[in-house]
Amino acid sequence: MAWKSQTREGETNFKIFIGLAIRFINKIPNMKTLPTQCKSTCSFVFILLFFVANCTSGQDTDQDRKVKSFLESKGGAWYDMNVPSNDGQLLYDIIVKNGYKNALEIGTSTGHSGIWIAWALSKTGGKLITLEIDESRHKEALANFEKAGLSEYIDARLGNAHDLVKEIEGPIDFVFSDADKDWYINYFKDVSPKLKPGGCFTAHNVWPSNRGRRGGGTQEYLQYVEKLDGYTTTVDDSGNGLAISYKKE
Ligand SMILES: C[S@@+](CC[C@H](N)C(=O)[O-])C[C@H]1O[C@@H](n2cnc3c(N)ncnc32)[C@H](O)[C@@H]1O
Repeated sequence: MAWKSQTREGETNFKIFIGLAIRFINKIPNMKTLPTQCKSTCSFVFILLFFVANCTSGQDTDQDRKVKSFLESKGGAWYDMNVPSNDGQLLYDIIVKNGYKNALEIGTSTGHSGIWIAWALSKTGGKLITLEIDESRHKEALANFEKAGLSEYIDARLGNAHDLVKEIEGPIDFVFSDADKDWYINYFKDVSPKLKPGGCFTAHNVWPSNRGRRGGGTQEYLQYVEKLDGYTTTVDDSGNGLAISYKKE
């Protein structure tokens, strides 16, 4: 598995840095009238700062090393209906890109997607609530979160998500729905009022109908969510089909 997360972070930092640099330069009064030598010095300082920022942004933290080492130790051996790694990376990217902090996962299983989500939240300063009905999978997930060094970012709850979702207080800004597919619409209806404008509701194993796959309720879910005026929905089918619905601001 190629680790893209750090590269993407580096790209984001680069864009932020260039944006700040342009804003700073624009604020310098009478920039046009400055002597050439002074302009050259300013440019040199910015280029130097860029290289320092870019070099440090690509470095792994202790946390990154621990998560990567755990995921590598599993060698992709996830057997409990877990997401494939590229869907995990997709969830990670959505969270980091948008700076989400209050995440909810419905369907923990043994914790593969939870690890990607919590890893992203370790970057944004957020926390994940994840729900699982099966006690043995819940326990295994807890052990996996510990081994990945991510327990402090995760509140893993055991119980029926049909009830637990209703009890969760908002605001929430990111949701990953991956439990019983025939309940997706109900989960969405329960969470939507608590989802922040600009927040994102993702649902797994959802493909557009023309792909001809059946998902025990996921096509009904997609048809439902695509019709909502308050949301913009797309499907990323690079992995196992992720419906991504952004709540309009
Ligand atoms: C597809 S797996 C989740 C995989 C997980 N997201 C991952 O990638 O590691 C679905 C999980 O949802 C759980 N589940 C199904 N119905 C549930 C319910 N009503 N409440 C809570 N969990 C439920 C199942 O026990 C199962 O472990």
